[in-house]
Formats: sequence, structure tokens, C-alpha cells
Amino acid sequence: MFTELGCRCHLNKPGDEQTLQKMIPDKVPNKDVFHGSDDLKNEAHIPSFEKYKELYINSIENPDEFWGGVARDFFWKTKHTGPFLDYNFDVTKGEIFIKCMEGASTNICYNLLDRNVHEKKLADKIAFYWEGNEPGDELTVTYRELLQRVCQFANVLKSQGVRKGDRVSIYMPMVVELVVAMLACVRIGAVHSIVFAGFSAESLCERIVDSQCSLLITADGFYRGDKLINLKLLADEALQKCRDKGFPIERCIMLKHLSKEPEETVGSSSPPAKRSCPDLQVPWNPQVDLCWHTLIQGASDECEPEWCDSEDPLFILYTSGSTGKPKGVLHTVSGYMLYTAATFKLVFDYQPDDIYWCTADIGWITGHSYITYGPLANGASSVLFEGLPTYPDVSRMWEIVDKYGVTKFYTAPTAIRLLMKFGSEPVQKYKRESLKVLGTVGEPINPEAWQWYYNVVGEKRCPVVDTFWQTETGGHVLTPLPAATPMKPGSATFPFFGVVPAILNESGEELEGPSEGYLVFKQPWPGVMRTVYGNHQRFETTYFKKFPGYYVTGDGCRRDKDGYYWITGRIDDMLNVSGHLLSTAEVESALVEHKFVAEAAVVGRPHPVKGESLYCFVTLTDGVVYNNKLEAELKKQVREKIGAIATPDYIQNAPGLPKTRSGKIMRRVLRKIACNDKDMGDITTLADSSVVDHLFQNRCCTAV
Ligand code: PRX
Repeated sequence: MFTELGCRCHLNKPGDEQTLQKMIPDKVPNKDVFHGSDDLKNEAHIPSFEKYKELYINSIENPDEFWGGVARDFFWKTKHTGPFLDYNFDVTKGEIFIKCMEGASTNICYNLLDRNVHEKKLADKIAFYWEGNEPGDELTVTYRELLQRVCQFANVLKSQGVRKGDRVSIYMPMVVELVVAMLACVRIGAVHSIVFAGFSAESLCERIVDSQCSLLITADGFYRGDKLINLKLLADEALQKCRDKGFPIERCIMLKHLSKEPEETVGSSSPPAKRSCPDLQVPWNPQVDLCWHTLIQGASDECEPEWCDSEDPLFILYTSGSTGKPKGVLHTVSGYMLYTAATFKLVFDYQPDDIYWCTADIGWITGHSYITYGPLANGASSVLFEGLPTYPDVSRMWEIVDKYGVTKFYTAPTAIRLLMKFGSEPVQKYKRESLKVLGTVGEPINPEAWQWYYNVVGEKRCPVVDTFWQTETGGHVLTPLPAATPMKPGSATFPFFGVVPAILNESGEELEGPSEGYLVFKQPWPGVMRTVYGNHQRFETTYFKKFPGYYVTGDGCRRDKDGYYWITGRIDDMLNVSGHLLSTAEVESALVEHKFVAEAAVVGRPHPVKGESLYCFVTLTDGVVYNNKLEAELKKQVREKIGAIATPDYIQNAPGLPKTRSGKIMRRVLRKIACNDKDMGDITTLADSSVVDHLFQNRCCTAV
């Protein structure tokens, strides 16, 4: 991949070259920046900033040539005809669409597994080192074994009537079978919809119904640290809710992870978990439930892949929406495959002897793109971790780094800040000599956490790639390249190949030079989402309506005098808690469903570890008295409706909310109250300012 990439720019439109040249500076500063090591530069795919700039311009001017170079490494059943990307990004000119490699057909599972096993001679290479929640709970899976297991399970899915285009919901812990289940769907052209195993039954039900899934795959249970999660119980609750909504699911396949009998380990990809759980109550409905282990017995480990068109749906993944209803982000086959493969290779500077570890959960986009698709497309060996960074102690991450000799390590700022609190000693107990590149994702990283990551974890040897992207973008869009980009702590630096960012002011005008405003993208790249499942209009309204001609990220951004991009955070009604997006409306609607809550307003309050915490204001129905019992009920209500990640940190009884004369809640004012910031700015539009004084006097000072 990429060996063919030269830089032959064929500029068609006068002025293009100038604009592009300006987009990436010729020179980057030497002062106050951090550079990758010389060792890294010697082996890197993109060894210098000049090379990055040259290739970047080529990727924009000659997308067919640039992406054609990436595509050449993959198997295509039929070749594409026409331009590499065909699109309309402007709502005023008609429907938004993005098509990549139209006419081509392929199968991603074939490219991730068969191609690596048969063509690339990687059959015996380890695809995953699985590390369980309990230290010592471990296993390895080679590419050959993964292929066999995926084929076997693909045959199971077929025998259950799953066909190309059908949606399959997956609700599983971080076990190898999760990857097996997702790739089995891909092999037969079914569309997976993975729901993070920390989501509630209600959230799972909502997602199953929205994408009209015909089958659910789950597990009996798992441990998150010390805590036992009875997943099957939640799955059953979700299925009951689906029935109540008139959407019955007839089949649920359950993997025995904790309750496995010894004979069930034969032919299975995992031994029984060390911390087995004989008492686990696994409800079983013979009308609906099927046992994973029984089904795979006798299923053939060969399965012809289903050849899919480039723009066939690949998966749906739900992300929070500002209306409160999650959006089913739809990604399609060819563009997503090429984009995750290319970003993985270049952003982590992947080399064949790397041991890569991304600590995200596959239930989020980071796990989709950078545990499953990107690494497997490159034939990489990865660590797949079921546990927590703090269990059984706060050295766990570094112990795992040494155990497997991890070279490329990718985590979230919230995990870094959490571990930082315990100082450097737990880190320095382990050598971490293997580490070469460190990465972060999910939220802005504060310079202090960046420095700690760089100095203590990486011992000033490893560049930190601060990758900015979204569920919607499919892969990294603003990011340093480890050997090429001088880094500034807290900046996601420059665009990846094929990505053209801009900063707009409120009137939609593009700002040049140092500036701050809305971060938008001017043209599609192969990995961008194609639609909101079942609601194309919502796709257009959410991302393309505010500023016609641009994809609007919803993030604020600053460009400094050196051309570096700095994400300043969400500028819509979205909160980022521990790297996970939540909409304020979603939490508010969970709160008002309680019979004693008349109105609720939720805002973010900065949090030293989680980035943001949830500060909720609730107005109770007449005559109800606020007390600890009610507070506990409200917390429980939100956990049950959404999941533990949305648990309120603060709940304040608010007899009145600050509103404009037209009745609109002034969230700006509530944010100030949550932070105890008396500098209110202009509040002349407030209908009743005494409300604000009351709320200030009765602020919550400690988290609930
Ligand atoms: O606000 C940005 C923040 O996370 C949002 C996307 O969230 P989600 O779709 O859940 O995907 C997270 C993993 C890709 C963005 O709109 N975000 C993500 N990465 C960064 C970031 N903010 C600042 N810097 C980042 N590196």
C-alpha cells in the first residue's frame, strides 16, 4: 500500500494550488513543538512534514490516483468505473449523496481474513492477544483461526435465516467472539448494529427497533472490574420491551462466557473465564434463545463470501443526537475499508512487527475502526482487552504493555487523566521499552495530560498522535502523523489525506489564518457516513443545513498562527463525558419521565477526569418535596433509560428555571450556575432574574 504514491499534481482550476498550498504551511515551527524520534523517522511511511504536504496536495488534487494506490492492495471481485468519489455536498443543489468506487464489488471480511491468510501468508500470525478482565485470563487467535471461526459462525447465521442486507444486533462484552460475530455478518453481507454492553435494556431496545434487527447476539455476562454484569438479563428485558412495542425478535444467540462448561470449550475460541460464575442466573426462553456453542458444533468452517457493492451498507452505529433520539450512523463497504486501513497504517505508522493496542470498546466507533477493521486490514497483531485500566490496580495498562511488548498504544484522555492522579510510580513499575507511538481520541486533551502521557508514559521518546474524528467521519480526520508532524500538546494539528477542513463564522464565511469558529469539511473523504439509517432527511438537516456546501462537525475549532487546528469542544447541545457523547435532551427526557419531575435542564460542568460531568436542574411537580430518596430514584431512572455513562453527577432542585420571555431555557445561564461563575454576561432577556439568584444560593457543591 502507498508504495505507488508519487506526487504528480494535475491542477485543473486556477487558484486551487494556491489555496491548497496555503492550507498546509510550508514550514512548521521549531520552537515549543515536539518531534518524533530519529529511529521512528528512519522507518516511517511518511518521514517528514514536506512529504506529508506533498502527498496531502496530491490526495486532494488527484483523489483517483491517491486512493487508487490504497485500493490496489485489496481484492476486488469487480473493478470500479468512473471517478473514485462522486458526491453532492450542497443541500441547495439537491439531495446529499456520497458514492465511493461505484461499480466495484468486494467483501471486507475476505480482505481482512482470507487475503491475509492466503495471499499475505499471515495464517499463523496472531490477530488478537485477548486479555481478560482477570489477570492471567488470556488466549491468542491467529488469522487462520479467526477465518475459520468467522466462517463457522457465518454459516450459523445463514442457518438462522440471516440474509444479505438483514440487520443483526450485537450486545456483547470485549471477547473474541464479538469480532467473530461482526465479521460473520460482514461475510454474508448482513449489517451489524453493535450496542455497547454498558447501555441499558431500554437503549438496546430503541436501537433494535430503529434498525429493525432480525436477530440479537449476546452473552451470559461479564465482569467489569469487580462488578458482575448480567448481560442476558438486560438483553431479555430489551427483547420484552421490543415485544411491547410490537416488534418481536424471534431469535437470540447467547455466548456462554462466564457460565461455560468444560466440554463447551472444545472448538470454541475461548476457554472458560478464570473467574467463572456458576451461580450466574441466565434466564432462558427456549422459544427464542439459542446457545452459541451448540450452534457452532457441526457448522462448516468454510463459507463463500457474499460479494457486496461498494455502497452496500456495512454497519449501523448509533450516536447521540441533539433531539435526544440516537442517530443510526450508516457506513458502507469500500470507502470505509480503504479509509480505516489507510488511517491505521499512516497515523500509527504501522509496521509488520508491531503489537498494537487500542483500549476502546468495540461498542464505540473507535473499536470498530481501530480494533477490528483498520488493524485486520493491515494484518496487524493487536491486544483485545476486556478489563479496566484500574483493575486489579492502576498499573494494569503498563503491565499489559510489557507483557505483550506493545509498540503502538491508543487510549482516551479520560483514562490518561484518571491514571495521572496516581502519579508516575504505578507507571514506572513497568519498563514500557517497547512503546513507539502513543495516541489519544475522544475529547480534547488538556496540555497537562498530554505532557504527562508524553513525559511519563512515553519517556519523551514516543510522539503522541491526538486524533480528532467522530462516529460520522469513520476514521481520523485531523491528526498528526507520528514521524512527520511536529506536535503541539492539545492540538490535533493538520488534516489527514483527502480531508479539507475550514473554519466558518456565524454567517458561514470561511475564515483565513488564525481564527476561531465552526469546524466544517468542504468535501467528502472515503470514510464519511452516508446517511442516518432510515432517515436521510435527518442526515441532511443535522450535518449539511446550517452551512450549505459543508459538512458541519458540531465542534468549535481554533487555527493558530502556524496553521495548527485546536478543537475547542462541542458547540451544540451535546456533552462529552469520558469521551462519550451524550445529548442534553436525551438525559432531560429520561428525567422528565419520572412522575415527580415537571421539567429538567441538563448542562455540562468541567470535570478533572471525565472532561465534562452532568449537572441536572429539575423542577418538581407541585407539592413534591425534594429529598435523598428522590435523588437516588432520578439517578436510577437515567441509568435504566440510557446506561451508566449517563448517570447524573449533580442534581439540583430548581423551583424555577432561567427562561427568556418567550419561554426558552437559557442554558448559557445554567452553565454559569453549574460552574459557580457569577460573570453572567448579558442577561437582559431573562424573564425573571430572581430565579438565577435562587439557583446560585442553592447550588450543588458535591457530586451526588
Ligand atoms: O467533540 C469531538 C470529540 O468527540 C466527538 C465525536 O464523538 P464520537 O462520535 O463518540 O466519536 C468519538 C471517537 C472518535 C467529536 O465531535 N473528539 C473526538 N476526538 C477528539 C475530540 N475532541 C477533541 N480532540 C480529539 N482528538
